Amino acid sequence: MKIFLDTANIEEIKKAVSWGILDGVTTNPTLVSREGKVDFKTRVKEICEVVNGPVSAEVVSTNYDGMVNEAHELSKIAENVTIKIPMTKDGIKAVSTLSKEGIKTNVTLVFSANQAILAAKAGATFVSPFIGRLDDVGNDGVNVLADILEIYKTYGFKTEVIAASIRHPEHVRQVALLGVHIATIPFKVLQLLFEHPLTDKGLKRFLSDWEEYEKRISSAQHG
Ligand code: G3P
Repeated sequence: MKIFLDTANIEEIKKAVSWGILDGVTTNPTLVSREGKVDFKTRVKEICEVVNGPVSAEVVSTNYDGMVNEAHELSKIAENVTIKIPMTKDGIKAVSTLSKEGIKTNVTLVFSANQAILAAKAGATFVSPFIGRLDDVGNDGVNVLADILEIYKTYGFKTEVIAASIRHPEHVRQVALLGVHIATIPFKVLQLLFEHPLTDKGLKRFLSDWEEYEKRISSAQHG
């Protein structure tokens, strides 16, 4: 499973890169707006320079021409830019055009298996079902993701599935068990994946035992 970071924050991205576990980044207009006065294209360029993998940048036009124009502009920023496009009729039409041009796309705001089928038919590189937001409205996001994976397998669709809107470590475990291609994870949740109380307890014990051992050795050596 590839790990993407779901953020537009460059410091978080640099930290995850330094851990050697990052395969890509996804951003969206909300995440960019959290970054204050930063210029969107400048930030996308910055992210693309530090990440060795796909970086999703989302269009904000809602009509076909606007989306395709924005996609062309964003594609000029760097080779690893992926164009994130919402799951609408115009969006799917834009994805069809862009995929024929060899431009990588990520269909976002996907909440059903049927929407994911359309994204794959249009030639999307990635599709992003939002599992947390499905849970929020009383559906089972992980189940929808499981359906998408099964349908894609049955028909041999090449589109890679990104589990998006991940809210907690349990989501990560569940989507990994399903064999999802990619999980895009918020920085807070990524940090939690490191944690286990027995790791902390165990390390504390190792270090205190080692300290005792060194004291014994040193007093034996110095009489
Ligand atoms: O990248 C989009 C998606 O991950 C959004 O997550 O938490 O705003 O539903 P959330």
